Amino acid sequence: MKLASIVLAAGKGTRMKSRHPKVLHQVCGMPMIHYTVKVATTNGAEKTVLVIGHAAEEVQKYLGDRVDYALQNEQLGTGHAVQSAIPVIPDDFDLILVTYGDMPLLTAETLQKLVQTQAANPGPLSMVTMISPDPRGFGRILRDKSGVVKAIVEEVQCTPEQLEITELNVGAYCFEAKWLRQVLKRLPLSPKGEYYLTDVVGIAVQDGLRVATFTISDNNEALGINTRIHLAEAESVMRKRILEQWMLAGVTVIDPASTYIEESVSVGMDTIIQPNTFLRGDTVIGEGCVIGPNSIITDCQVGNRCVILAVVMEKAVVEDGVDMGPFARLRKGAHLGPGVHMGNFGEVKDSYLGAGTKMGHFSYIGNATIGKDVNIGAGTITCNYDGEKKHPTVIGDRVFIGSDTMLVAPLNIGDDARTGAGAVVTHNVPPAETVIGVPAKPLRKSKTSE
Ligand code: UD1
Ligand code: CA
Repeated sequence: MKLASIVLAAGKGTRMKSRHPKVLHQVCGMPMIHYTVKVATTNGAEKTVLVIGHAAEEVQKYLGDRVDYALQNEQLGTGHAVQSAIPVIPDDFDLILVTYGDMPLLTAETLQKLVQTQAANPGPLSMVTMISPDPRGFGRILRDKSGVVKAIVEEVQCTPEQLEITELNVGAYCFEAKWLRQVLKRLPLSPKGEYYLTDVVGIAVQDGLRVATFTISDNNEALGINTRIHLAEAESVMRKRILEQWMLAGVTVIDPASTYIEESVSVGMDTIIQPNTFLRGDTVIGEGCVIGPNSIITDCQVGNRCVILAVVMEKAVVEDGVDMGPFARLRKGAHLGPGVHMGNFGEVKDSYLGAGTKMGHFSYIGNATIGKDVNIGAGTITCNYDGEKKHPTVIGDRVFIGSDTMLVAPLNIGDDARTGAGAVVTHNVPPAETVIGVPAKPLRKSKTSE
């Protein structure tokens, strides 16, 4: 069975009150269209066609070549949108799955069950339904006395009696491809001037064909997003889903209500996430770490057994056994080697700190390469910027940098060298040398000159 997917995303999303297309609004760090496309393609679909229209370029720019596109110039309804996608799907496809781009919580399992339902259906289409006393404007499923589906009626067209129906159209369908191609031509124009995809159900029934249904048990899956209130609801459901996935994989989350893990993040076993922690973007956290409370980690790699307390870090790499915080900051290009200790009020940018190096208090390290087991005294600053350019600082192994040292780059400090407290180091320091003073001079020489 050759399966294709059509995802509808051409609508304006007027009720979002936004300059951006609805499907690019984010849920747990990813535009909602990311989820709908992912689910539509993880079901063995060999082709996924996204119908775009309003702000088409912006949507296309985000998804690139993850999907094929069909342009719906005028938004004349969901039936018309599907029709726009049909020419993009070759004739040899057997089944076509149709979903809506504004439903990011629908799961791959549900679509899989939908495809299975259709595989067992002698008729040409199956659809997903839900039972809910809160209709949210969804289409109502009409059945006859024996329970056979008769039609979907859109809310605007419902009689008062039909409005009471609690079985609703979720908005996911699986069609026999050949039949869908033909039936779309027969869609009537609604009083609102649109071609409703949902009208194909009534047409099938009139032709004596069977429409099968699959009813979801978790209604959260059907949370469609039309307003920013729905967006916040979807965020909270998705967030819980992501957290539960990590908890089941062996991660302790002390307080799910104040923990934010984006869907692109991964976390290792036996890591404990303390409250008020944000893990964002392409972040990977190793095993056995304690993260937070109060940490914001974006696009970072963190090794195993790290302790990261009240830290803000982005685009940084932290190797095994690093101990950070509270109140440390890692910026782009920071790389802490194994077992580094970084205490309070430190900042590291574009720098490597070798294994076992300690930077306890109030330091700034930028554009530096620092060796193993170095002690960076409190208040040390790499003066890396001369007002025009950034300059590098290179520090060897086992160096002792005294408190409040200013390292005026470019600068090279050899292995086992030492600087005195308050030194302003303006020249390279050879291995094992001790320099003191302002500007810093070798300890021996400054003694002889006295
Ligand atoms: C639709 C269904 C309704 C269902 C509900 C579930 C129809 C007629 N109604 O209503 O039965 O209960 O979803 O969420 O299908 N779109 C286009 N081109 C268009 C119109 C819409 O691409 O011309 C896209 C939209 O961008 C959106 C999706 O189709 O992603 C659904 O459209 P929307 O207007 O949100 O339909 P609903 O009123 O929610
Ligand atoms: Ca909708």
